[in-house]
Amino acid sequence: MTGKAVTEFVAQGATGRDKPVEELSEAEAADELTTLAAAIRHHDDLYYREDTPEISDADYDALRRRNEAIEAAFPTLVRADSPSHRVGIEPAAGFSKVRHRVPMLSLGNAFADSDVEDFFARVRRFLSLQPDDPLTVVAEPKIDGLSINLRYEHGRFVQGATRGDGSEGEDVTANLRTLDDVPERIDGEAPEVLDVRGEVYMTKRDFAALNERQAAAGAKRFANPRNAAAGSLRQLDSKITKQRPLRFFAYAWGEVSKPIAATHWDSLRRLRAWGFAINPLAARCNSAAETLTIYRKVEAERGALDYDIDGVVYKVDDLSFQARLGFVSRAPRWALAHKFPAEQAQTVLEEIAIQVGRTGALTPVAHLKPVTVGGVVVARATLHNPDEIARLDVRVGDSVTVQRAGDVIPQVLGPILDKRPANAEPYRFPEVCPCPLGTPVVHEDGAVIARCSGELACPFQQVERLTHFVSRNAFDIEGLGDKQVRSFFERELIRTPADIFDLAETDKTSLTPIRKLEGWGDKSVENLFAAIEDRRTIPLERFIYALGIRQVGQATAKLLARSYGTLPAWQQVMLAAAGERQEAPEVKKPDLVGEHYAELCNIHSIGTSVADEICSFFSEPHNLQVVRDLEERLEVQAATQPETGDSPVAGKTVVFTGALATMSRGEAKASAESRGAKVAGSVSKKTDYVVVGADAGSKAAKAQELGVTTLSEQEWLTLIGRDG
Ligand code: IVH
Repeated sequence: MTGKAVTEFVAQGATGRDKPVEELSEAEAADELTTLAAAIRHHDDLYYREDTPEISDADYDALRRRNEAIEAAFPTLVRADSPSHRVGIEPAAGFSKVRHRVPMLSLGNAFADSDVEDFFARVRRFLSLQPDDPLTVVAEPKIDGLSINLRYEHGRFVQGATRGDGSEGEDVTANLRTLDDVPERIDGEAPEVLDVRGEVYMTKRDFAALNERQAAAGAKRFANPRNAAAGSLRQLDSKITKQRPLRFFAYAWGEVSKPIAATHWDSLRRLRAWGFAINPLAARCNSAAETLTIYRKVEAERGALDYDIDGVVYKVDDLSFQARLGFVSRAPRWALAHKFPAEQAQTVLEEIAIQVGRTGALTPVAHLKPVTVGGVVVARATLHNPDEIARLDVRVGDSVTVQRAGDVIPQVLGPILDKRPANAEPYRFPEVCPCPLGTPVVHEDGAVIARCSGELACPFQQVERLTHFVSRNAFDIEGLGDKQVRSFFERELIRTPADIFDLAETDKTSLTPIRKLEGWGDKSVENLFAAIEDRRTIPLERFIYALGIRQVGQATAKLLARSYGTLPAWQQVMLAAAGERQEAPEVKKPDLVGEHYAELCNIHSIGTSVADEICSFFSEPHNLQVVRDLEERLEVQAATQPETGDSPVAGKTVVFTGALATMSRGEAKASAESRGAKVAGSVSKKTDYVVVGADAGSKAAKAQELGVTTLSEQEWLTLIGRDG
């Protein structure tokens, strides 16, 4: 890497206006303070509300520093809405939380026609449909807004909430009451309890008018209609929301006390009869080919529509099919979002900076001349890894094509060779990490991943690990974001996760207490300590996810939590498995490594590669210390089992073998898991049932040998209460 890129990473600094403060005239200073106030507010919004920062922390800090320097030089010009008067964004704290009775899920994505054909094939296979059995889906535009749950009780609107993390959102009832599309009362007969779901959005025309008004008032302009809708709905003062023209399309439902129809299509019709706006482009289709025709039609109309859409959603129409198909992870098997192709633009690659991740992986990041792509300003794009840069042969100074697909991180597609400057040099990946240790870079996985070899000693990695630990899906500590973690780390207030829970104590004896630091005051420190206290009790799945074990994302953390129940139980098996793995590092077959290791691999969808990462985490004494220190300070709650009613198979381990007659293997697995059973791939002493289909082989024999109960397919269906 060039020396310039290293400095860039460490001290990325420019605000775009580099006239020294001493040389500014009063008019220039006032003008710049206005721009800075709007810019900082904009970045605060992206960071705190949207979780999609556009600029690095260092660039953000530089904006704030510039603002403070000008204010210090021109104290009479300090604005009433000066960013120095606040840290982060206050309103978010003002909404109370709402737990969704039925989780609000996301959708699986498709980009190619073949993904849609695969979806049809997958659904047919899962439901064991014959080639001539009909399969109807409803195709609807995917509205680019924010999803909302509207709760009606006895026909009256009682509560409205944002999606939040899917399980818990924010109560924005008062703001939703200001929307004409949200009926206060439902006309006609409705179930006693009815959660109506759909998208709040702003039309393109209203968005443009709002931005004009914002500009005229010297307030910030919104980047796109979606952000404008989000910002407008999350106002603490609903009088402001009322002035913002928001709309709502209904397309789904959550908890209902009585089924509303037998098909999705008829449900939409009922929602319409009750007074909700239903998107007029929704259509029924009977094959992949028909849905693709609708997709092209909607895509052709996209530009002329007065609201943003980013694809077409397909939903299996028959609700009894939907019930059988169920969910995987956080998305239903019965629906698919077919996205429109990404939007592209050309700009100049100004610099390649290196970012150090939580696990030490070095990610090259393209710093671009800001350019608008599909309505959003893009200034950064990932270059993934050294191989990708070599493959693209992008060079600093090149004109490049960038693309943005939905909320995916922008990507550099490649250089425009005709425009390459004569002096552009091929990029050389740095041989040492930009972290203060300057340790050598090692290349893994056939050189695809470059990693800092500083491991646990690397301060960049330590900070990233702490940031992950407090992030939204982990400990989710309000008021403790990247910036605060970095600042506390630099001051040696926190070094390991456990330090966070000692912070209030450490602070008492600290030479510079936090409340004296820039951006903090008595109240915000008090709130921070309260937020930390609040997280002393934490669900096991969040705890596991927060540890930041490679390859253990939210879904895997949940599986582990459900499978082992409590922290001591999980830890004990992981330590045993790690010990077994150390004894037999090269052995491929899990069974031959050891009993605990095999048990771990046997959990649905955890393979040897994830299991090996977990074992390597538990083989590192430092990590064990981190877990022990946390254990002393926290109450880790046992995992809650999925709603299984009084299912006789809850907690049991089941193995399916041979060909099943009435359902596919996928449906069989789902039928067991949704009732709280674990599905394993091989038979052991711990197996409770082996369900034997036609032509079963060695597994049935092994069950006999070990004395494990075997069931016919019919017996299984009777056991789970699905025998007609
Ligand atoms: S259905 C269980 N239908 O897309 C599935 N979602 O990527 C529930 N969205 O969070 C969602 N238009 O905000 C559905 N016609 C539509 C949609 C739609 C937009 C959004 C929604 C959801 C996201 C999932």
